[in-house]
This record gives sequence, C-alpha cells and structure tokens, in this order.
Amino acid sequence: MTPADRAPCPGAGTEDFHLRGGELWCEDVPVARLAAHYGTPLYVYSERALGTRLAMVRAAFGPAAHLCYAVKANSNLSLLQCVHRGGAGFDVVSGGELQRVQAAGLPTDGVVFAGVGKEPWEIEAAVRAGILFFNVESEHELPLLAAVGAAAGRRVRVALRLNPDVDAGTHAYISTGKKENKFGIALPRAGAVVEAIARERWLQLVGYHVHLGSQLRSVDPYAAALAKVIDFADGAAVRREGLTHYDLGGGFGIAYGQGAALDTAAVAQALLPVLSARGWAPVVEPGRYLVGDAGALITTVLGEKRQGGTDFLLVDAAMNDLLRPALYQAEHPIVPVVPRSGAGQLVDVVGPVCETGDFLGKRRELPPCRRGDLLAVLGAGAYGASMASNYNSRRRPAEVLVTGGSARVVRRRETYAELFAAEVDLHDTFVP
Ligand code: LLP
Repeated sequence: MTPADRAPCPGAGTEDFHLRGGELWCEDVPVARLAAHYGTPLYVYSERALGTRLAMVRAAFGPAAHLCYAVKANSNLSLLQCVHRGGAGFDVVSGGELQRVQAAGLPTDGVVFAGVGKEPWEIEAAVRAGILFFNVESEHELPLLAAVGAAAGRRVRVALRLNPDVDAGTHAYISTGKKENKFGIALPRAGAVVEAIARERWLQLVGYHVHLGSQLRSVDPYAAALAKVIDFADGAAVRREGLTHYDLGGGFGIAYGQGAALDTAAVAQALLPVLSARGWAPVVEPGRYLVGDAGALITTVLGEKRQGGTDFLLVDAAMNDLLRPALYQAEHPIVPVVPRSGAGQLVDVVGPVCETGDFLGKRRELPPCRRGDLLAVLGAGAYGASMASNYNSRRRPAEVLVTGGSARVVRRRETYAELFAAEVDLHDTFVP
C-alpha cells in the first residue's frame, strides 16, 4: 500500500529514498529515526534499491551474462551478500577484496580479478579460490600466472584487458580507456601478448576485457570499444581461438540529480547481437550503478557561519567520510531530512576537517537549517564508505542496511582504540 502523502525525493535516483509528509524515508523507515538511534555521520543503504538495480542489469543483459559486481564501489560484507542473493559474482582488484568475498562466506567461482599490478600472493590466492578468470593488464603478469598454474597443475584462465583508446567522456581521474592511461594493453602491442599467452601451456585465453572509465552516460564508448576489439580479434586467427567471454567492464553512470542515468538496456541492445554472433558471453562489472543510489550519508548540522560573503553550513560529515566532492568535484544532491519551512538559502555544506577542500556541496539551495538538523547526501552508496579514511583521527561512519520496515547495522562505528590499535604495544626494533 502506498501512503497518500508519499512523494519522490528530488535527486534520489530511486523511489526507495522518498518523502513522506515531506520527510525523508528509506524504504519503510524514517531516516530521522535511524539518525537518532545510530548517530551521525551514518551511511544508510536500501536493500531493495540495490536489488532493483541488479534486476535491471540482469534483465538488460539476459541470463547468459555474468554479472560481476565491482567490489571497490562498496565492499561491505553484508552488501556483498545482498549482491550474491541477487545472483551476481564479483569483480575484485586485490587480494583483500577477494578475502572480503570469502569472509562474507560467498562462492568465488564467479569472481574476475583485474588490476594493473597483481602480487604473486594475490595470484596464488585467486588460483586456489578457483576464480572465473583473471583480467590481465600488464605483460609481467604472464610468467607469474603461468608459474602459479604450473605449480597447481591447472591452466589459468585469463582475459586480456585491452586499452582501446576510447574517450569515455568522464572526469579525467576516472577515465581509464585512453592510450595515455596506465590501464590495459595498447592495441598495437596486444597482438604479441596474445601470441605469448598462446605459447604458454599453463595459460588459457578466454576472452577480452575493456573498462573505459567510470560514470559513463552514453552507449557510444561501449560500442566503439567493442568495434575496436572485434577489429583486433579479426586481425589474426590466434586472437580469436577459444574465446568464450567479452568483459565490457563497468562504468554505468547514475544521475546524481542531473540528467539521466546510463540506459543499460541500450548498452545491451547495442552489444549483445555482436557478442552472440561470436558466441562470446557478456561479462559486466557494474559498481556505482548497483549501489550508488542505494545509499545516503546522513549528517547533522553543527552550526552556521557567515564569512567573506559565503554562508557556511558546518556539518559532522567530512571529506574523510565522503571523498568524492573533494577529489573529483563531484556534486551529490543534498536534501534536508526533516525540512523546515521558510525561505531557501544558498550555502556551502562543509565538514570539520582542516582542509579547504573539505566540502560536501557548494552553493546549494537549502531551506533554513539550524544546529541539530539532519541533512542527507544522496547517491553516496558507491565510493563513499569504501573510500572513507580516518584523516584527522576521525572514526569512519557507521553503516546500516534497511530492509522494508527494519534496519540493521552492517558496520558499527569504530572505537578510538581501534584507530590506534596498530600503533601501540609494538616490540619490534630493527637494526639493519
Ligand atoms: N571494472 C573495473 C576494471 C574498474 O576499474 C571499475 C572501477 C569498475 C569495474 C566499476 O566501475 P563503476 O561501475 O563503479 O563505474 N572512485 C571513483 C570511481 C573509481 C572507479 C574505479 N574503477 C568515484 O568515486 O567516482
């Protein structure tokens, strides 16, 4: 039953964060109640929003596709379990992320492992775990992979990450498919790498991988990259033999309150006919698209300050909790949790960290806010908690997962003792 006073929340990107009686709710829970119970800063996630996005990607790419959630977007163990329940595997980029999948008690046979620099122990752990395949992006990995395969007595499945030199039209720091980026293997060099793989009895080439960048809003780069990969594969028989997968990466963009999210169905429509003609199963690695809109960062107003012609709203969340505005000039919608009536004001929403780059939003129109009021930074489920730090010796936020009318803590707030734990009771002296 939908309550009559229910309305969409501007900028939310999902109906699971919505307004009832003007106040922000997550699913069937008032966000203000969560903040009162758990304190702030607080990450609040909607399980249903995550499930809905997962189902959308599944519907777009069909049952033959492998969905590999990019763990880096949000590596919380409980969210990994939700992703698994939704039928997806994982894209990991470190031995630590693989350990998270294992610590969550989840199968590793649907894991793909990317990264420009993999350490031998990471490769060994992943081979032991029996992952789906490695995405190889540097030539020096090949002898390492082959040696681990030889020692284990099994061929290691690899996909070659190609750098197709395609502009993803996204922020420079999150663009990865241009030739000047460190990622993948440039096409002019890739033919020799395929031949090296073909010569190595402990390696098996299963496909090609590209990942063009993050927060893409257009189908065109995906189509352009596939066209270049097809051209490359058709260049010599050895480049086509035995291929079973095409990993088109992640990067599916969300709206952040401006414009539209990437049309994932349109990406699938553009790519699937080409892939099925070749018998290549699609692999997709969405991170942000699945969890971004499913999370909000809730923060409390500490005070107001007017200085140099700017109205600052000081809040208890900061760049250590959500780095994206400082690092990428990212703009997240910010809304009051329980709005006051009155004329709107133009404010800079800033945290307590000692950096001028510590802001959550600049020149935002907000209703009057007083000390103790709550704000929600929307679209914060991806690259929020996973990039949080203890800078300024701040404890990272607690995280709660809402399912219907109830919530449970999925990461408790750290204690200060935990912040110092690795620095006390040390008995090591090294004299080289
Ligand atoms: N696959 C690979 C190989 C990746 O490197 C990434 C992200 C993904 C998949 C997932 O991309 P997504 O679907 O989430 O866009 N911290 C930045 C984003 C960095 C993305 C790094 N790689 C941000 O907050 O915007």
